[in-house]
Amino acid sequence: MKAAVLYQAGQPLVIEDVELDPPKAGEVHIKIGAAGICRSDLHVIKGEANHLMPAVLGHEGSGTVLDVGPGVTRVKPGDRVILSFVPYCGHCHFCLTNRANLCDRHQATPGTLLDGTTRLHKGTQRIHHYGKVACFAQEAVVPETGCIPVAPDFPLPQAALIGCCVTTGVGAAIYNARITPGSTVAVVGCGGVGLNVVQGARLQNAGKIIAVDISEGKLEFAMRFGATHSVNPTVQDPVAAVKELTGGLGADYTFEVFGSGETVQTAFNAARKGGTVVVVGLAPAGEYASIDPIALVRQEKTLKGSYYGSARPVTDMPVMVQLYQSGKIDIDGLITRTYRLEDINQAYKDIDGSDVGRGVITQF
Ligand SMILES: NC(=O)c1ccc[n+]([C@@H]2O[C@H](COP(=O)([O-])OP(=O)(O)OC[C@H]3O[C@@H](n4cnc5c(N)ncnc54)[C@H](O)[C@@H]3O)[C@@H](O)[C@H]2O)c1
Ligand SMILES: [Zn+2]
Ligand SMILES: [Zn+2]
Repeated sequence: MKAAVLYQAGQPLVIEDVELDPPKAGEVHIKIGAAGICRSDLHVIKGEANHLMPAVLGHEGSGTVLDVGPGVTRVKPGDRVILSFVPYCGHCHFCLTNRANLCDRHQATPGTLLDGTTRLHKGTQRIHHYGKVACFAQEAVVPETGCIPVAPDFPLPQAALIGCCVTTGVGAAIYNARITPGSTVAVVGCGGVGLNVVQGARLQNAGKIIAVDISEGKLEFAMRFGATHSVNPTVQDPVAAVKELTGGLGADYTFEVFGSGETVQTAFNAARKGGTVVVVGLAPAGEYASIDPIALVRQEKTLKGSYYGSARPVTDMPVMVQLYQSGKIDIDGLITRTYRLEDINQAYKDIDGSDVGRGVITQF
């Protein structure tokens, strides 16, 4: 089958034929239907995040079950599924305490399936699976616990986006920050994930939602998802601007949704006394944010991370499906570009440029 393979950071992805072994016990063979273009893959392509190579990237995916390995009960051939990039073991401390997004077994097996082996290879060369999804390919083998069934007519691109940016962004607002009605919110970085933080804040009836981005086009686009104000750090100091828009206080909740030490600092400094700072973006490995520890103490700020929207994919992705179907969140409007798998390198150039919304691969 055809896949986009990354051999080395800094190099383009190579579209080529690779082999995919059949699913083992507890695994599912998927025909990929759609794959979103998220910055997390770009961090690996650029060498900002470490990963075993060669690898098939792609972690925002959906598809149809082709066949299942022994013991699989959750899905059957023909089912349409959202793919979760944090499948879980069900036995570790975090799985047993209702935080499956932090599963130990998942984190201890990077680049492979949960048993530590790969199904992808080219002859004798092993190829790694990014996020246990590896959906930049025609097919994938994934753990059963990474499959979330949806209705047979649920659109595949929208399902793919629920697989990362929607759940990550909306979840950060509703499950992690638990934004309260009427509060003030600033979102630093309004790409695919940040726009979902914006609409998550709208869902929570935030009073003011301040979009912060270096691109005017992206700021304007964020207004469609619920932003009420915008700040461009290339033309004004973002911390001063957020304070000015919040009566000199700073925002009740700030979110970092780009991925850099500098933007984490901006989010921290733009929060009010007693405010909550949620870091969603993944900064390049080795980069640090400088936080004033005295401000942390004397201003009683809360600084926390949010992985996968602090959601439980199996139970919370169906909530995202419901929010979409009832018109409470917009996924259709997020999808601004569609590509063929062959065009994947262009798709990654586009996300790094000024294009708004999310790109999705729909032809494999
Ligand atoms: N926590 C998680 O579970 C999780 C899940 C998915 C993605 N991520 C991470 O979230 C981040 C965002 O992902 P994405 O796919 O939305 O990326 P994206 O490229 O679509 O969006 C990033 C946005 O940040 C803006 N930006 C760049 N520099 C900025 C600055 N100095 N100030 C303000 N805005 C700035 C860009 O213009 C862009 O709109 C990435 O780091 C990604 O790896 C985290
Ligand atoms: Zn992602
Ligand atoms: Zn676990």
